[in-house]
Amino acid sequence: MERLTPRVGIGQIAPHKPMIRLPNGGRPLIDLSLSHNALGPSPRSITAYRQAAQNLHRYPDGEHTALRMAIARRYDIEPDHVTCSNGSDEMIQIVTEAYAGPGDEVLFHQYGYHGFIKAARMTGATPVIAAERDLAVDVEALAELAGDRTKIVFLANPNNPTGSYVPAEQVQRLRAELPAHTLLVLDSAYADYVRRNNYDPGFDLVSDHDNVLMVRTFSKLHGLAGLRIGWAYGPPAIIETLDRVRPLYNVGLPAQAAAAAALGDLEHEEATLAHNDSWSAWLSHELRAIGVRVYPSVCNFILVRIPPDPTMSVPTLSQHLLDHGILVKSLGHYGLPDCMRITIGTEEENHALMDALREVLD
Ligand SMILES: Cc1ncc(COP(=O)(O)O)c(C=O)c1O
Repeated sequence: MERLTPRVGIGQIAPHKPMIRLPNGGRPLIDLSLSHNALGPSPRSITAYRQAAQNLHRYPDGEHTALRMAIARRYDIEPDHVTCSNGSDEMIQIVTEAYAGPGDEVLFHQYGYHGFIKAARMTGATPVIAAERDLAVDVEALAELAGDRTKIVFLANPNNPTGSYVPAEQVQRLRAELPAHTLLVLDSAYADYVRRNNYDPGFDLVSDHDNVLMVRTFSKLHGLAGLRIGWAYGPPAIIETLDRVRPLYNVGLPAQAAAAAALGDLEHEEATLAHNDSWSAWLSHELRAIGVRVYPSVCNFILVRIPPDPTMSVPTLSQHLLDHGILVKSLGHYGLPDCMRITIGTEEENHALMDALREVLD
């Protein structure tokens, strides 16, 4: 009898690693390992979430109408050019399922967000990986690898975990060099944090092409990672395709309400950005002062390289931090064994991190 086996590619997906959530001597654990918003969600989102609790017996709006309208108003786009998902991770999966399958190629960059390779494997498509240069995307390398079989190119801009970004002019060049049958997916999860004049999250590129999609999330700037809400902006034909593929009730009722409310709280957004700007600069400065290499980041986290020292590897350092109740992200699985990703925390968390690091690195 034939053995039961999962589809081709599934066995190559890395299994989820259990998250460490150790008690920290009665104190809350300082979790700088995921790119959470240090200030938490907007109070308006919390109120909307609580109000939605009255209606938990109802299915959510399968068309995400109010949320799409709120997104459209905020970004001055058409609501029918938008669809929503259970986190932007789900959108990455939906778009890959819709456009790629066995025999097709899904192209992305070397240190690109790990959701891309997973989505490619899930659909049975072949992942193709373009080398980066000095932890930044090389658009020429991406364009060179695109061919007849390339159905999707994913560009995380800015990228996680590197924190680097691709200037708008290079993204336009990439689109021009890709085949017309290739969908360019701009994963702009951290777009809101970027303070650079030559950056563009992708609105214009989407409106000017029939083969570009921009994917966004409420997990970062809006501090709603726990509710799982993502969205995509694209040409109506692509949005209609994604809507066919996605589960009808993919975004929960409280999630839709909290996300729509978040868009009305510009004060919270500004506070988040101001906090990130000042503490990212502070942390980078303090880390460099103790000999840690800090890569320039336009996100709410920074990528650091630990100086070579036989007694202080990333696992040893991570354990030392864990002993102080602090979690950071090791990047061995990204092929960066001497690097860590550190999220910008609250003032107290950032100081706790530096105090713990100075004990062993100063
Ligand atoms: C570049 C990038 N894209 C997408 C995601 C997925 O975010 P979410 O599913 O929370 O919207 C993340 C999460 O860290 C990310 O870093």
